[in-house]
Amino acid sequence: MWKDKRLCDLLDIDHPIIQAPMAGASTPEMAIASANAGGMGSLGCAMQSVDQVAADMLQIRQHTNRAINLNFFVHTPPSLNVERVRAAQDRLINWYETLDAGDMPEPVETNFPFDTAMCDTVIRLGPKVVSFHFGLPDASIIAALKKAGIVILSSATSVAEARYLEENGADAIIAQSYEAGGHSGWFLARGTAEVAGTMALVPRIVDAVNVPVIAAGGIADGRGIAAALMLGAAGVQIGTAFLATSECMASQTHKNALLAASGDDTMMSKAFSGRRARTLVNKYASEMAPVDDWPDFPIMNTLTGPIRKASVKADSPDAIALWSGQAVGLIRADTTKEVFLRLVSQTQSALTK
Ligand SMILES: Cc1cc2nc3c(=O)[nH]c(=O)nc-3n(C[C@H](O)[C@H](O)[C@H](O)COP(=O)(O)O)c2cc1C
Repeated sequence: MWKDKRLCDLLDIDHPIIQAPMAGASTPEMAIASANAGGMGSLGCAMQSVDQVAADMLQIRQHTNRAINLNFFVHTPPSLNVERVRAAQDRLINWYETLDAGDMPEPVETNFPFDTAMCDTVIRLGPKVVSFHFGLPDASIIAALKKAGIVILSSATSVAEARYLEENGADAIIAQSYEAGGHSGWFLARGTAEVAGTMALVPRIVDAVNVPVIAAGGIADGRGIAAALMLGAAGVQIGTAFLATSECMASQTHKNALLAASGDDTMMSKAFSGRRARTLVNKYASEMAPVDDWPDFPIMNTLTGPIRKASVKADSPDAIALWSGQAVGLIRADTTKEVFLRLVSQTQSALTK
């Protein structure tokens, strides 16, 4: 049914649909179900240790031998700005008290960019694909992954980023738009310019690079997939549509908020992690919206961790990072397999209309 087979051939999948890697939300069960349905099953490994990644991959391999994508962050290591940390702590203290969230942790980095130790483990585990968010690792790491036969993907939020990724070894580029849920993958300076929406971003990136382009952001049904293919994308990467599935590890409070949302109720916020990410509007994100000078990512994650956890424990959406894309109004609470197969059949009917 797919006229353009570039992505299926490159990634060794039947359908050019990637279940997005989502650190803190995707699970081995989700990746297994997506892979066995003929798509790309992905695991967001950015917040995991080497041992956890190895254990998850072992679990996956017990249930599927299909292609799997392991995803990592390659963010710039943070610098500790004491004044910003103090100002953030002052803003957070009421939230710690209201939610009875315990002591404020030290402002330290707890999640690290992809490094040679993780690279060695990944090569040993042998996934078909490794994808990155926030750029690419050093050339020597890319070379080692490629030597092991691993396909490299990364997200671009502009034409300049897409060209950079192609020049530095990406085998396909994820064009991640403004509509996308979770963290924007931008990594090159862009001043105050906004990230474009899927409709404007995808065809410009398609024209600018020679490698296949994967559309991501605001796609949650077959109409969106068909439209992305019309724009020249070779496939799609979809996150939000999988967030309310039974395999997703998002809290039930988060899932309930997503299922009640329309899509007119999301916003970009730096206040959870220190980087711009799309979330459902809630009390914490609204209150902090005027503030921009947060401590660097991911130190800010460390500072907000306890209030986010306490909010989940209290079954209150007020201070949870309710990551969501703008297409949230289209999603349903099904299994990953049901969501995946519905995406395939909806696309088929959209393309044959
Ligand atoms: C909860 C959540 C977590 C995410 N975590 C990651 C991640 O760890 N790595 C990554 O490359 N992209 C991550 N993303 C972004 C997705 O890869 C993808 O770009 C996005 O979900 C596409 O937009 P959509 O949510 O509208 O489908 C995340 C998205 C969500 C919703």
